[in-house]
Amino acid sequence: MNSFQRTLVTTALPYANGPVHIGHLAGVYVPADIYVRYLRLKGENVLFVGGSDEHGVPVTIRARKEGITTQEVVDRYHNIIKDSFEGFGISFDVYSRTTSKTHHKLASDFFRKLYDDGKFVEQTSEQFYDPETQEFLTDRNIRGECPRCHAAGAYGDQCEKCGATLSPDELINPYNAINGNPLTKKETKHWYLPLDQYQQWLEEWILQDHKEWRPNVYGQCKSWLDGGLRPRAVTRDLDWGIPVPVEGAEGKVLYVWFDAPIGYISNTKELCDAQPEQFGNWETWWKDPSTRLIHFIGKDNIVFHCIVFPTMLKAEGSYIVPDNVPSNEFLNLEGDKISTSRNWAVWLNEYLVDFPDKQDVLRYVLTANAPETKDNDFTWADFQARNNNELVAIYGNFVNRALVLTKKYFDGKVPAAGTFNEYDHNTIAEFQNVKAELEKLLGDFRFRDAQKEAMNLARIGNKYLADTEPWKVAKTDMERTATILHLALQIAANLSIAFEPFLPFSSAKLREMLSMPAVEWEALGNINLLQEGQALGEVSLLFEKIEDATIQAQLDRLANIKTANEKAEKQEALKNWRPADIKENTNIDEFGKMDIRVATVLDCQPVKKSDRLLQFRLDDGMGGRTILSGIAQSYPDPSVLVGKQVLFIANFPPRKMMGIESQGMILSAVDADGKLVVTIVTAPVRNGSQVG
Ligand code: MF3
Ligand code: ZN
Repeated sequence: MNSFQRTLVTTALPYANGPVHIGHLAGVYVPADIYVRYLRLKGENVLFVGGSDEHGVPVTIRARKEGITTQEVVDRYHNIIKDSFEGFGISFDVYSRTTSKTHHKLASDFFRKLYDDGKFVEQTSEQFYDPETQEFLTDRNIRGECPRCHAAGAYGDQCEKCGATLSPDELINPYNAINGNPLTKKETKHWYLPLDQYQQWLEEWILQDHKEWRPNVYGQCKSWLDGGLRPRAVTRDLDWGIPVPVEGAEGKVLYVWFDAPIGYISNTKELCDAQPEQFGNWETWWKDPSTRLIHFIGKDNIVFHCIVFPTMLKAEGSYIVPDNVPSNEFLNLEGDKISTSRNWAVWLNEYLVDFPDKQDVLRYVLTANAPETKDNDFTWADFQARNNNELVAIYGNFVNRALVLTKKYFDGKVPAAGTFNEYDHNTIAEFQNVKAELEKLLGDFRFRDAQKEAMNLARIGNKYLADTEPWKVAKTDMERTATILHLALQIAANLSIAFEPFLPFSSAKLREMLSMPAVEWEALGNINLLQEGQALGEVSLLFEKIEDATIQAQLDRLANIKTANEKAEKQEALKNWRPADIKENTNIDEFGKMDIRVATVLDCQPVKKSDRLLQFRLDDGMGGRTILSGIAQSYPDPSVLVGKQVLFIANFPPRKMMGIESQGMILSAVDADGKLVVTIVTAPVRNGSQVG
């Protein structure tokens, strides 16, 4: 039934607006690389395509922020990103960029073909406009108060604070993110891809024919389709991007989500045109139905890869559509959402400097903890534990013992197998199961479980040595010792194959220690990978323990970023603060129901076990009272309030908090950054006096 002859694997093109981080690696690039390496090991015909997404608003925002040109931004980050991927062994056949000539032409031609074939709908609509700079604003360049969580500075497409997906119309007091100008609306013309016309085709193709897609992907598609698709604009009023190749479209460019996925095609073309003997014709990869196309992406990209891009391909008419779109959920960092703009990330370029030669450790941890079915959390403590307790204690320890004992007893040469006993045979049978299991899991894109299975092989080896104790046997029986170490070394050789897709650097190192050539996947399970008498190479540690101090340094770094972010957010809130709208009318009678009075603060202390509450003891002129107030964050030193005369509501019913009865409420003003300031009387008044 499977008649595919080649597999084309693409990975989402990261925006060149910052370095790539662990979220990118875990969500997209490591899984894709595992898959591609596995297919290559099996001898399959596979092409692995990546590149940078260099258009779109994020890069222009970065340029403004750094005070350099957009071209400089994309040049800088494209190179940083490319180097990071190389550093982590992401084995792209091509890694290019959407500012390339090839891409500009291909994307432009693609648009023009759809335009000529009448596949677009033209529509005029009102968009946010800055009358001063005379430019339309894209969602990302519009900011305002979040309608959900009321954080200041939410973006027109998303609130970074609460994660809500927004449209600019929902923002409260929208303003131009760049200059703070208030916005008006103005008419503009755009071209729309009428997704609604493809609804039925998409429903059949996805909901009926691709039930095997991951539940998160299938589910998201289903909910989009169930909601009914609407036409989507594929052009924008912007000066950075690929010009719309149509008369009368001056000042307009292709929407970044229109051009970027075409980048997969352009990058394939660039490679194939440069090296046709090696990679063949780009059109075979993109148009021959015997090509299996797989897109690796993160969950925020699902709609574009499962609905929009396939519709573009279908509308064009000559392309294949993806066979699967393995998409991961998100990886968080120490409990918080990873964010490029908030610098909350572990940057890959920095990791490569801080942890030289430990690329595989991060690959391992990110796969062990891959957000395949739900969001997951990366913590430095888990990183250390997995390195020390798994890579070092199991895999590394096993390999090291096998090699060191062989050096010690057999002069570093693979000893003779002799005869295997029943225990040996059981061990062999057990580890020979690993291959089939791995194949099944890798074929299903279940990389996390697959890596666990590879680790099982190391466990089997480790247990084998622990049970057979060759260091003891060597005192009495060298022949048996030889058999044990022979088998242990064969298992180690197998480990280099099983782990090759996951931990390529360690596999190469292990092969060197074993003086073993790279072999194919088919050899996995073979117990004659090493020849008797063959000399081993230099022995060194496959993995090294990571110390507490190293981890602490990373945690300190994150703590500093958190403090800086909080400060910046407060400043942003203050900068853009406007008074809230006046509440509905009330009257003197309503006001008169509030019994507001003056009291002197006799004592003010933080409430134990609460980081929010302060306990006030007041002279209210009526025998005194206790009031709790949730303002502790704003008063690190509450003693500054002692002796001050404050205003309080005297006729609220008493309320217990943290076991203490609060008899009223002290009046405070809320500043833009959430800081609370207690209202104080400016000249002495008798305690108990009413306010009105
Ligand atoms: N740059 C996008 C992101 O980071 C992904 C683009 S994927 C492509 O979310 F298909 F458009 F290339
Ligand atoms: Zn919000």
